[in-house]
Amino acid sequence: MNELNHWHPVLLSKALKQKPVGIKLCGREIALFRTKNGEIGAIEDICPHRKMRLSKGWVEGKKLVCPYHGWNYEPNGTGSSPSNPNLKPCAKSFDVKDKHGLIWVKAAGSKANFPNLDFPNYHLVCALEHQVNAPLELLVDINGEIEHAGLGHTFFGHALSQVSEVEVKFDFSDPEVTRIKEIMPQKPLPGVLEKLFTVSSSDRFIDEIEIHFSPVYKTSQLYWENQETGQRRKERLRSVYFFTPISENETKWISLYYITSPRWGMVIFNLLQKQVLKLIMNHEGNREKGVLECIADKHVEFEQMCLGRLDGSLVENRKRIQRIYRGQSQGVPVRELSINIVSSDLQTNAHA
Ligand code: FES
Ligand SMILES: [Fe+2]
Repeated sequence: MNELNHWHPVLLSKALKQKPVGIKLCGREIALFRTKNGEIGAIEDICPHRKMRLSKGWVEGKKLVCPYHGWNYEPNGTGSSPSNPNLKPCAKSFDVKDKHGLIWVKAAGSKANFPNLDFPNYHLVCALEHQVNAPLELLVDINGEIEHAGLGHTFFGHALSQVSEVEVKFDFSDPEVTRIKEIMPQKPLPGVLEKLFTVSSSDRFIDEIEIHFSPVYKTSQLYWENQETGQRRKERLRSVYFFTPISENETKWISLYYITSPRWGMVIFNLLQKQVLKLIMNHEGNREKGVLECIADKHVEFEQMCLGRLDGSLVENRKRIQRIYRGQSQGVPVRELSINIVSSDLQTNAHA
């Protein structure tokens, strides 16, 4: 399956207003537009007449007008030329949806499942977008391991000094979904965050992760437990990260954050919690973007890497990206022989 065959979120819905927007998906340039009756169009960002960028045009009624000579196109790509009424120009169109606050695009007519984002008892707090100068694989790597939290996270996860206490369980028994459970001592949190999320800095922080590959995205259930009693704290978060390739070396990272239902009658508390969560997550996203962009060698092969016990999902995820997302049944071989795993105490349930 070609990468474009999967449903990819490409833009926050609120960013598509009356003006068309040009985006790039897997190296293809696409013009997105919203017609006057609200229908969304996604067509190749190049006019079939003389190759003008269509996203520089404007919308009239249900058509996107090319700014060069006024030829115009409907969301399905059917065009017309004011100077050649008998000519039927046609722009390449894509399937498009406006759902969950995001604009989604895939190749026209391809068969792909739409990600399930219905989380009962949770409500959406915010959607964020970061653009990272790194290939999709490196975003999956950082999201499939927790070791970086010691230095790369300000708020969530363990302190570097406690990394030896981090426990990770990998489950590859489902050939379509990688599951990871990470359990760690929570690093010290500012008092205001302890109050807002009813957690204590002495709690255990747990992240239950699923990584899916059509499209490539990660869902996390995040919660805290009292270390002494094992009792779960009331507040639970969910995050969903989509990794949308812009090109081979640039990836759009679209994040959705959810929290358990708001508290009745505590309007200001709920509002504050929402705003603070948005600020924190944007901050953490920017930090990880900074980390990824400092990687010296962004080739995705594992050659000459020395993987540790917390890197236990990286190789399997790479294979799944190749098989499910890129549709390479044989695939570019993941060069396992060159991988040096320095610890043998991985707790894995490997899919045969
Ligand atoms: S290039 Fe678009 S109308 Fe001529
Ligand atoms: Fe992280």
